[in-house]
Amino acid sequence: MPDSVITEQLAINKDRLSRHMKQLSEYGRLGETGVCRPTLSPVEKEAFGKVAEWMEEAGMTVRLDNFGNLIGRKDGKDPDAPVVMTGSHIDSQPAGGRFDGTVGVLSSIEAVHTMSEKGIIPDRPIEVVSFCDEEGWRFGKGLFGSRGITGNLEAGELDRKDADGITRRQALREFGCDPDKIPESRFSPESIHSFLELHIEQGPLLEKADQPAGIVTGIAGPIWLTVKVKGFAGHAGTVPMAMRQDALVGASEMIVAFHEIVKEDPEGTTVGTVGELNVSGASRNVIPEEVAFTIDLRDIDLDRRNRCEELLRESFQRIAEKYHLKVDITEDQNTKPSYCSPWIQDIIDSESQALGLNAPTMMSGAFHDALVMSSLCDYGMIFVRCREGISHNPKEYASDDDLAVGAELLYRTLLRLAGD
Ligand code: GLV
Ligand code: MN
Ligand code: MN
Ligand code: MN
Repeated sequence: MPDSVITEQLAINKDRLSRHMKQLSEYGRLGETGVCRPTLSPVEKEAFGKVAEWMEEAGMTVRLDNFGNLIGRKDGKDPDAPVVMTGSHIDSQPAGGRFDGTVGVLSSIEAVHTMSEKGIIPDRPIEVVSFCDEEGWRFGKGLFGSRGITGNLEAGELDRKDADGITRRQALREFGCDPDKIPESRFSPESIHSFLELHIEQGPLLEKADQPAGIVTGIAGPIWLTVKVKGFAGHAGTVPMAMRQDALVGASEMIVAFHEIVKEDPEGTTVGTVGELNVSGASRNVIPEEVAFTIDLRDIDLDRRNRCEELLRESFQRIAEKYHLKVDITEDQNTKPSYCSPWIQDIIDSESQALGLNAPTMMSGAFHDALVMSSLCDYGMIFVRCREGISHNPKEYASDDDLAVGAELLYRTLLRLAGD
């Protein structure tokens, strides 16, 4: 069925969703099409204010929990029933797009707004959440809000600092949260029925399949490492080449070795990225003494990811010895991959067929709050087509029509999960 036919039979309000998407993109707008909305920043706080307003208009009561999650609640017929949760995040990459995360939050609000307008009271309560710090770049560790409510935070997390030396504890406090009371904001497995997230695909498969929406089968788990390489500083003009302990030369060889290790299994789904590199006290006529770089390594297959990690650790050690350097590797984040619950995939599938879609199934290479929620409850994810698969880039784009189709699928799936 052509997309235009599908958009004609929508229960959700496409114009309202498009309007909200456009309005929210003004909060932290970067150039013509980008967004810079750091987690726990004044601009995210302002954006939360607007989102809270829309949650209220949709018939929800709104709260900010102590992890910095904004949550809107629509009561069900049974107020004590476990909650059906849906949502995503509105924090962005430093130079991000206006769809990543935002589409999940605003289409969830749109779905609840539609229910309220139709006088539908679901059996179970529904909570729409905008999670705190999904992206993770400000404090070097992401998925904070979802890890918080599911009891997956680690010791010392609140002491992590951003580039300006502000701790997460301080940032939470300035945002209006009470970090000393975070246990009060946790959910127990009994209190959550299921979690559903809509997100742009951030990849090219839906565009290739000529489909506006897809069904996610599983999410690759990321491990984030920081590698510190230590050499010895010296004069660039006087130290003979054979006598150098150049940390940058060692780090460069490590980065290339890592790339080769990850590429080794061309059939595999492993991906590896070095996205940050820092040379301490850099000067063009000083031999670099200290270099730090980050590793982002992911796979849906944990064994394969673990094998890659082992290989990179051995290889970095060998390279360090070759150049008389020391290497130290610390783990910042380690989230296991997880498959989406088959029964929720089935619901999404049957609802997409009822809509006349032929939604393909696909794995998510990007991580999402849904990955963390899977530690507490069953979960499902809907993907929406985005142009050329571009994401984490101001050029990110998804059409109003595709977003509306995705939101409709979310609405229908939510009704099935919450019961009406
Ligand atoms: C989150 O945005 C990720 O890196 O997948
Ligand atoms: Mn996202
Ligand atoms: Mn992202
Ligand atoms: Mn993400």
